[in-house]
Amino acid sequence: MIVANWKCNGSKEMIQGWLKDYKERYFFSKQKSTFVGIAPPFIYVDYLSRCIDDINLSISLGVQNIDPSDGARTSAVSLGMIKDFNCKFIIIGHSEMRNIFHETNENISAKLDIVENDFNIILCVGESAEENANNQTKNIIEQQLSVLNARHISPSLTVAYEPVWAIGTGNTPEPNQINEIHKFIKDVVQSSTDNNISPRVLYGGSVNEKNASNFFKEEFVDGALIGGASLNGKSFANIVNIYNGKKI
Ligand code: PGA
Repeated sequence: MIVANWKCNGSKEMIQGWLKDYKERYFFSKQKSTFVGIAPPFIYVDYLSRCIDDINLSISLGVQNIDPSDGARTSAVSLGMIKDFNCKFIIIGHSEMRNIFHETNENISAKLDIVENDFNIILCVGESAEENANNQTKNIIEQQLSVLNARHISPSLTVAYEPVWAIGTGNTPEPNQINEIHKFIKDVVQSSTDNNISPRVLYGGSVNEKNASNFFKEEFVDGALIGGASLNGKSFANIVNIYNGKKI
């Protein structure tokens, strides 16, 4: 699974160029049917979806947030609305949502409560630089994963391990450290959920076409959540190709 998180970036013009570049670089893989997704800002979902259909690409659309309710909630977008536009996944708990918009475990739980089991959730977890320096990584991740405790979760649940200090910085943990944390995440979720599902785990944080293969080689890395490098259609297609085991 390879997912682009465009954050608050994009324009109609950017989308046109991006799709042209992506289509030029992307190799269709017969061996692997990798889920490829883009989470643009809400306002571009419909436009992007129509452009993707026009050129027949197999890319799913998702969103970067969801409101747990509807009605008199100025600025909110509900689950029903995103389903109406055929969105396939939701990113929940991104560190920018936690840090800039003060999203708490309680808010995350409320969102998890309303998302049906057949919908793909990408739950983001990850420690800050300070927590990492204090060897708190596993404790922090366990606290963040506690929103899943005793839930009956969907087999399609995805967790993204995104160390905050690796996001947009060019710094990353060593691939073997990432692998160890991914194994830890799978074990924690499996033992704490009601139906003992081991989730898919993506790595996110400064993934680009140069370093992606180092991460994808690791046993417990099931794909990537990509910010900066996903804004370039060629780079993103190259990362998908690398994941699919093809040469650039
Ligand atoms: P980055 O962002 O690839 O720019 O580091 C990843 C993310 O925030 O999901």
